[in-house]
Amino acid sequence: MADKRVWFITGAGRGMGAEFAKAVLAAGHQLVATGRDTDRLTSVLGPSDDLLAVKLDVTKRADADAAVKAAVERFGRIDVLVNNAASFYAGFFEELTPEQMDRQLATSLVGPMNVTRAVLPVMRRQRAGHVISISSAAGLAAGYEFCTAYAASKFGLEGWMESLRAEVGPFGIHTTIVNPGFFRTELLTEQSTSYAEPSVADYDERRAPLLEYWNSQNGKQPGDPAKLARALLTIASQSPPPRRFLAGADVIVTAEQKIAALKEDIEYDRELSTSLDFDAAATLGAAR
Ligand SMILES: NC(=O)c1ccc[n+]([C@@H]2O[C@H](COP(=O)([O-])OP(=O)(O)OC[C@H]3O[C@@H](n4cnc5c(N)ncnc54)[C@H](OP(=O)(O)O)[C@@H]3O)[C@@H](O)[C@H]2O)c1
Repeated sequence: MADKRVWFITGAGRGMGAEFAKAVLAAGHQLVATGRDTDRLTSVLGPSDDLLAVKLDVTKRADADAAVKAAVERFGRIDVLVNNAASFYAGFFEELTPEQMDRQLATSLVGPMNVTRAVLPVMRRQRAGHVISISSAAGLAAGYEFCTAYAASKFGLEGWMESLRAEVGPFGIHTTIVNPGFFRTELLTEQSTSYAEPSVADYDERRAPLLEYWNSQNGKQPGDPAKLARALLTIASQSPPPRRFLAGADVIVTAEQKIAALKEDIEYDRELSTSLDFDAAATLGAAR
């Protein structure tokens, strides 16, 4: 194939990551599929000369370094990194333990940093590459109960990615943030979602309907991850690839609401916001 590229995907054993991996192989690219369970990777993705399955827990920097080394030894380069792996710690902020918050950030924010830190030297040497990080609608606009930990990790991911873009762009390295809406994966199963233990009675009445809501969404999400996988191949082939890809009609609505809310915020206190510089006279006085 003319444009055979080397992809590196985290969390490729299930959910969206597995769909991305299957689509990449089906399109004739080479793939470093990574995950915590390598047996699962090979059983899901099958044997292929274009596949290297490598153990990578994204919270472990040594795993990231070893996986990147193995990738370069096998394929010589890495063209597209997909930071996909994440988890969901759901619950009221006051009921999530500090340890749960740490684990959320370790997997979904620091994890992508660990992997990208290991991959960037390879891409810099190539003077080419594409880092794609899977954020969420919750990384674009938060404000939903039970999502403080997850939204914090995804907002952090977005701030880091947007700033990274400025730093690595001059080396020919592109970055894309992907904001999926609700996609039918395993994210809302007990393998991926951990709920806070009830501990604050003031939340008792609101907790049950929220638990019911999140549990009821599992298996009913409108988005098809196989279609998202094909869309990912499309955006990776665009020149240049997009800064951000909004994945799903539901997330377009979220983005439009966010724009409207920001406009409201600007107008609510525009005069006050724009009245905060030193007065010209005071500045002149200080200079004398
Ligand atoms: N599905 C949605 O509606 C939705 C919406 C917005 C954003 N997203 C984002 O989309 C991405 C994929 O999620 P998904 O929906 O496909 O969820 P999923 O079905 O639960 O898959 C999560 C993947 O992350 C991996 N993972 C978790 N912790 C890991 C770690 N420490 N190291 C390496 N891999 C780890 C899991 O591997 P194991 O098998 O080892 O646990 C699994 O492969 C995530 O970034 C998620 O936040 C999903």
